[in-house]
Amino acid sequence: MQGKSSELRVRRANYFGGEISVPGDKSISHRAIMLASLSSGDCRIDGFLPSADCLATVAAMQSLGVNIDVLEESNLGPECLLVHGRGMVTGVPAGDIDCGNSGTTMRLMSGILAGQRFTSRLAGDESLSQRPMGRVIEPLSEMGSVIKAEGAKGCAPLAISGGKLKGIRYELPVASAQVKSAVLLAGLFAEGETTVVQPIETRDHTERMLDLFQVRTRTEGKEISISGGQKLEPCDFAVPGDISSAAFWVAAASVFPGSQLKISRVGLNPTRSGILHVLARMGAHITNTVASEGNAENCGDITVYGGELRGIEISGDIVPNIIDELPIIAVTAALAEGITVIRDAGELRVKETDRISAVAENLRAMGADIQEADDGMTIRGGKPLRGACLESYGDHRIAMAFAIAGLFASGDTLIENADCIAVSYPGFENDLKLLCSGVEEERERNPAK
Ligand code: S3P
Repeated sequence: MQGKSSELRVRRANYFGGEISVPGDKSISHRAIMLASLSSGDCRIDGFLPSADCLATVAAMQSLGVNIDVLEESNLGPECLLVHGRGMVTGVPAGDIDCGNSGTTMRLMSGILAGQRFTSRLAGDESLSQRPMGRVIEPLSEMGSVIKAEGAKGCAPLAISGGKLKGIRYELPVASAQVKSAVLLAGLFAEGETTVVQPIETRDHTERMLDLFQVRTRTEGKEISISGGQKLEPCDFAVPGDISSAAFWVAAASVFPGSQLKISRVGLNPTRSGILHVLARMGAHITNTVASEGNAENCGDITVYGGELRGIEISGDIVPNIIDELPIIAVTAALAEGITVIRDAGELRVKETDRISAVAENLRAMGADIQEADDGMTIRGGKPLRGACLESYGDHRIAMAFAIAGLFASGDTLIENADCIAVSYPGFENDLKLLCSGVEEERERNPAK
C-alpha cells in the first residue's frame, strides 16, 4: 500500500490476519455528543471516533454554545472528550452549521433544532446537498417547526425555524434510523407523546442512549414512544469499536485462505451485527463473544478463520441492519463461489453516493460479473479479479471496500480520491498495512473505561 495524499494503491496480499481494534462507532459517537450536549452537566466520552463526520457534530454543538474539551488525543485525533452539557436550550449559532459529508449530523441535528426557538441553517458538502431531506422535513413540520429546503429538489441547505412542537404519531415511509432519531429527539421538546412506527427494525442506538441519560422511551414491537419535557441526566460513556469499520477486516479474513483475525472491543448491538450472520450464511468461520452488556451497548471480540465462501440471497428485514456493509458484502460475493442476489436495498442509491452503481462500476472494472437492479444487484462470484484504477466517488465505504478487493486482485489497484476514508475510519490505511504484514497493532487506543 502506498499513495499520494488522495490515492490509495493496494497490491495482492500474501498474508492477512492478526489482532486489531477498530476506532469508535460512528453512529454512537454522534449520538453521545448530541445527548451529552443536551444533558444538564458534564459527560466524559471515551473511545470517541475522531473522524470527519463526528467532528462535524462536535463543531455543530460548539456552534450552539456547548463547551467541549479534549481530554485525550491519539494519533488519529481527539478520542476522549468532556462535554459540558447546557440543558435542553442551546445558544443561537452565529452562522451556518456545516455538516460536511454527514447525513447523521444533518438529520439528527434537524430534530434538535426543530425544538429550539430560533432560526438556524444546516449546510453540507456537495454529496450531502443532494441527499433526500424531505424524510425529516415532513415529520418535523408536522410537529410544528418550519423548515425550508433551500437546495434543489427539497435538499439542503435547510433553514430551520424551531419552536413549540407537539407530539405526533409518525409512520416512517423508509426504514431509517436517522429519521427515527430526528423525530425522537424532536419529541423531547414536544408537548405530549411522540410515537415513531418503523416498517422494519433499524439501529436502536438513540433509544439505548436516551435510556442511559435517564430519558424513558417505550418500545412495543416496531413502535417507539417518547414523552416530551424529560430532562437528560449527565453520564459518562465509552464508545465501542465500530462494527461497520471492523466489517472490512472481517469480510477480508473470512475469504482469505488460512487467515486468522481477532478484533477486540467491537460494538455487537444486534441491530448492527447482521454482517456476522450474513458472512456466516456464506460459510464464514466467525465467533463472537459479548464481553459487556453495560453502558447501553453490547461490546466484545470477533474471531475469524479464513476459508471458502459461497453466494447467498440477501433481502428483507436484514437489509437495514447491514445497509452500510453492503458494499463490502458485494466485494466478498465476487470472491465467493456461486451467485449472490441482493434485493430490497434501494436505499443504497441515496447514500454518500449511489452505492449500487458505484459497486457495479468498480467490480466490473476489476473483471467481476455483476448486474445492477433498481434495489440491489446480482453477483456471479468466483471470476478472478484484476487490479484497476477505481473511483471512490467521494464515498468512504466504496473506497475501503475496493481497497479490500485490491488485496485479492492481480496487479495494482489504485483508488482515487481515497481521503474520504477519514469520514469514518481515520487510520484505515495504517491498519490495512498492519493486517497484511503480520505485525501487531501499534496504535494506542483508550481502553474501555
Ligand atoms: C445511521 C443510519 C443509517 C446509516 C448511516 C448511519 C445512523 O442511515 O446508513 O451510516 O447513525 O443513524 P439511514 O438512517 O439513512 O438508513
